[in-house]
Amino acid sequence: MGVRTGMAKRLLSAVLLVAALACSGAHAKFSRHSFPKGFVFGTGSAAYQYEGAYKEGGKGLSIWDNFTHIPGKILNNDNGDVADDMYHRYKGDLQLLKDMNMDAFRFSIAWTRILPTGSLSGGINKEGVAFYNNLINEVIAKGLKPFVTIFHWDTPLALEEKYRGFLSEKIIKDYVDFAEVCFKEFGDRVKDWTTFNEPWTYAQRGYAVGSFAPGRCSSYVSKSCFPGDSAREPYIVTHHIILAHAEAVKLYRAKYQKPQGGQIGITVVTNWYVPNNTNSLSDKKAVQRSLDYVYGWFLDPIVHGAYPGTMTSFLGDRLPKFTPDQVKLIKGSYDFLGVNYYTGYYTTSAPAPNGLEQSYDTDIRANTSGFRNGVPIGPPEFVSIFFNYPAGLRELLLYTARRYNNPVIYVTENGIAEANNKSIPLKEALKDGERIEFHYKHLQYVNHAIRDGVDVRGYFTWTFMDCFEWGDGYLDRFGLIFIDRLNGLKRYRKESSYWIENFLKR
Ligand SMILES: *[C@@H]1O[C@H](CO)[C@@H](O)[C@H](O)[C@H]1NC(C)=O
Ligand SMILES: *[C@@H]1O[C@H](CO)[C@@H](O)[C@H](O)[C@H]1NC(C)=O
Ligand SMILES: *[C@@H]1O[C@H](CO)[C@@H](O)[C@H](O)[C@H]1NC(C)=O
Ligand SMILES: *[C@@H]1O[C@H](CO)[C@@H](O)[C@H](O)[C@H]1NC(C)=O
Repeated sequence: MGVRTGMAKRLLSAVLLVAALACSGAHAKFSRHSFPKGFVFGTGSAAYQYEGAYKEGGKGLSIWDNFTHIPGKILNNDNGDVADDMYHRYKGDLQLLKDMNMDAFRFSIAWTRILPTGSLSGGINKEGVAFYNNLINEVIAKGLKPFVTIFHWDTPLALEEKYRGFLSEKIIKDYVDFAEVCFKEFGDRVKDWTTFNEPWTYAQRGYAVGSFAPGRCSSYVSKSCFPGDSAREPYIVTHHIILAHAEAVKLYRAKYQKPQGGQIGITVVTNWYVPNNTNSLSDKKAVQRSLDYVYGWFLDPIVHGAYPGTMTSFLGDRLPKFTPDQVKLIKGSYDFLGVNYYTGYYTTSAPAPNGLEQSYDTDIRANTSGFRNGVPIGPPEFVSIFFNYPAGLRELLLYTARRYNNPVIYVTENGIAEANNKSIPLKEALKDGERIEFHYKHLQYVNHAIRDGVDVRGYFTWTFMDCFEWGDGYLDRFGLIFIDRLNGLKRYRKESSYWIENFLKR
């Protein structure tokens, strides 16, 4: 398809979509039945954000357990020691999920609950294995599919201390050993695996700006980080993540996939980028660089076997290289791609850094903003880095299909938060019309992408219940379920949970 034809087709589609949205009956008619048969609707969580019980049941410490206890790292010095206490309350929680007519529950496995020291040599923690067996059995008993993330940022502290975690290639073997325990113990019931969740966030926050564990960066980026190297470490960490991912997929395919009959992929995150000046070639190039550095950094290697050209040409020896054997290993190392999407940004070109104070962030040579001439790309959200831009999700899905050979895609996260504001009465706090509108519109655009030919197989909201949101602590409420942190973590259904229940009626 020529660029012009493609654009004309997209414009026409956009006009038709607006017409469809304007139709007043659309809200009533649009439902799970508007999606292909077998399309999976679910909601997501992560071990550190939900489980709590951080020292119970034989669990070892992760870098997040350590990081959150360092004063000043997390807003209000919040931590996930208790979080939502899902470790003890999962049965009731899964009933709420079932009540919403969901098809699937996405959760991650805490590495140090299974391997307390991070390595097989430290022994497998039977209590941890039992916890996930019970959780998975309960998920299935409720008629839900478990969608399991093997790694959601909680690197074992022992491995961070032993060889600096993902900065060392030694992590690859320990990660694959951990993944194998998961396949072996849970793969008879878990059919949908993702190796890593948002490795971009892990590398950028953890090693370029240092705001997330393990909190490393160059001193010229921030004085409050542990000493690191923002110009090199993010690239090294990502390189090891890609290899660990590919080795785990190789092992799964060789030993487990056939007898267990599951699929395996990876979950990546990106923003959608819109050129600030649509006529500016340099802004368009800045858009492509942003996609390459945030999204292609992971997907180009695993789909095409190489980092994006915009990275290799600029970064020189700061970007590690794949050997020919590694190219064979990584290329095609996925059955599906998980995509997390939250926001759109206007993008302008920015000059290259001066060479002395390089960092991953400035390597992109792009500036992004939610605003153009003071006008937001979409309604600004409570989380100030996010703007509600549903059209960007369809654009992202179309782009993914074009650049990455029309893969099977699951939207593994999409959501919006409101404030955790103690002065708002509970009754008011449960009225989350903004969230209903958010999911309604994003689902419309997902549906549109499917009609455009993109192979989207599922949609997961972020998140099931309000939870620990990393650097923001408990400031943001992303859940369909409200957690009353002042009264014993009591769960309440927000209005959106009833809307979803109705949308998902079978
Ligand atoms: C763990 O936290 C301590 C402070 O309590 C800090 O000095 C140490 O560097 C942290 N370890 C890692 C691996 O982040
Ligand atoms: C973005 O575009 C607007 C409108 O064309 C222009 O006024 C503004 O200067 C641009 N911003 C940047 C940073 O280029
Ligand atoms: C990019 O953003 C930075 C910080 O917000 C600003 O100082 C700089 O002028 C911007 N550069 C361009 C080219 O817009
Ligand atoms: C909390 O809610 C109250 C009442 O609606 C409002 O006045 C206040 O500005 C809010 N505070 C924050 C930090 O959002």
